[in-house]
Amino acid sequence: MKDTQTTLNKAVALILQYLESNWHPETKVVNYQAADVLQEKLDLSLPDEGVTLEELIPIVESYLQYSVRTGSTQFFNLLFSGSSIPGILAEMVTSATNTTMHTYDVAPVATLMERELIKNLNSLVGFQQGEGLMVTGGSNANLVGMLCGRHKVLPEAKLKGLGHHRLVAFVSEQAHYSYAKAANLMGIGIENLVKVNSDREGKMIPEALEAAIQQSLSERKTPFFVGATAGTTVLGAFDPLPEIAVITKKYGLWLHVDGAWGAPVLFSKKHQHLLAGSELVNSFTWDAHKLMGVPLICSAILVKNQGILQKACSGGGTDYLFHDDENAPYNLGQMSLQCGRKVDTLKLWLCWQYYGNKGYEQQVDKLFDLAHYAVNYIQNCDNLELIAEPKFLNICFRYIPQENQLDSTVIDQLNLEIRKQLIYSGEIFVNQARYQGKIIIRLILANSELQKADLEKFFDNLINAGKMCEAIGV
Ligand SMILES: Cc1ncc(COP(=O)(O)O)c(C=O)c1O
Repeated sequence: MKDTQTTLNKAVALILQYLESNWHPETKVVNYQAADVLQEKLDLSLPDEGVTLEELIPIVESYLQYSVRTGSTQFFNLLFSGSSIPGILAEMVTSATNTTMHTYDVAPVATLMERELIKNLNSLVGFQQGEGLMVTGGSNANLVGMLCGRHKVLPEAKLKGLGHHRLVAFVSEQAHYSYAKAANLMGIGIENLVKVNSDREGKMIPEALEAAIQQSLSERKTPFFVGATAGTTVLGAFDPLPEIAVITKKYGLWLHVDGAWGAPVLFSKKHQHLLAGSELVNSFTWDAHKLMGVPLICSAILVKNQGILQKACSGGGTDYLFHDDENAPYNLGQMSLQCGRKVDTLKLWLCWQYYGNKGYEQQVDKLFDLAHYAVNYIQNCDNLELIAEPKFLNICFRYIPQENQLDSTVIDQLNLEIRKQLIYSGEIFVNQARYQGKIIIRLILANSELQKADLEKFFDNLINAGKMCEAIGV
C-alpha cells in the first residue's frame, strides 16, 4: 500500500502541475504532432509481462504532454472547455468505488443523488412531474427522446417493428447530426428525418414545419416526432418552442428539445427567456458536460410525464438483476438502454454543490457579456467579418484580407489555413464550420475562467496568423 500511495501521490502532483499550467499564459493549448509522428514518439506496444505501478508514471507524463489542453482559455474548439476540480475529484471517487447504476442496492448513494439531480433539472425545465436519467451523451439523449416519441405514437413497434408504418421525424436544418443517427437506429431511415428550413438566425421556421408535416401526411406517412434545438451547434440558435408546441399539439406529435448546449441558460434570470416554453415540450436533452463544465460524459434525458422511459427502454429478461425488494421503486436501470451504467451523477452533484445555482447563473451571464465583447471587437476590426448576429455563445466570423476583392473560395482557403496554423503553433484551438456556403471560424465561449484579455489574445493571434498567411500568399 505504501508503494501505491507514493505512486498515486506522484500522479496527483503531475495532474496538479498540468492543471496549474493550463492557466499559465505561456502554455500552449496543444503540443501538436501529426499522427504518424506521434505514433513514432509514443511506445504503443502492450507487454507480455506487466510493469510496476511506478513504471506507469512516465506513460501518464507522455499522455499529458501530448494531450490537447481543453481546459486552457485558448481552447475555443468545442462546446466545452475548462478544468473543473470538483468534477475531477468526483471522477477519482467513482473510479475508486467503481459501480454500476442499474439498481439501488449496488449504487445506493449515487441512485439517490441521480434521482435528486433529475428532479432539479426537471424543475428548471418546468417539468413538475417528470422523470429522467443520466445517459451517455446528448446524442443518446436525443435518441431516447425519439424512442419515447415512437413509443407514444406507435407502441406496438417495440415488439413487432414498424410494419407498414412510414414514420417521419422533423428537425431544423441546423440540428445536430445525432438526430440522423437516431433516425437510423430507430429504423425509420435517415431520409424520413425531414430538415425544416431555418431563418437568418438559424431558428426553425414554424410555418415551414407545419407545411412539412402536411406534406408527409399527404404522402400517407406517419409524422411522430419534432426535435427542436436550444442552442444549435454552429450558430447557437434557439428554436421557438411556444410556436412549435402549438403545431405538435395540433398534429399529436412528440416534441423533444435538444438542449445539449443551451439548457444552462435556464439558470440565468437574464437569459432564460431563450428557452421560453420549455415546460410545453415532452422531453429534453441536457448536457452538463458542455456549458456547466462537468467532465465528459455527463448528460441527462428528461421527460415531462412519468412512465414512458421504462416502457420504451426496458427489454425484459432481467429477473437476475431487478429484484422485487423494498428498494425496487428506487431502481433506475429499467429506464435505461444500458445494462452497466457509469456513475456520472457524482461529478454533476459535486460541481452543483460547489457552484450553486447562483454560481451557474453568474457563469452564464459572464459568458454572454464576453460574447457581446467579442462581437464588438469583430465589428470594429477591418480584418474580421461577423457572419451572423449571435444570440448565444457561438460567435461565427471569418478573417477578411485587406485586399477585399478576393474570390470567396480564396477567402475560404485563407480561413482554413489560419485555423491550421494556429493549431500547429499551439497558440489557439478553434474550429471551422461551413455556413451558407462559406468557411467560417466558430468561436465558442464555454470556459467559465475566460476573461476579456483571453479574447484579445485570441483575436491578436488570429489576425497575425491571417496577415502572415496573406504575406506568404496562401
Ligand atoms: C446541439 C447539440 N446536440 C447534441 C450534441 C451531441 O452531444 P454529445 O457530444 O454529448 O453526444 C451536440 C454536440 O456538440 C450538439 O452541439
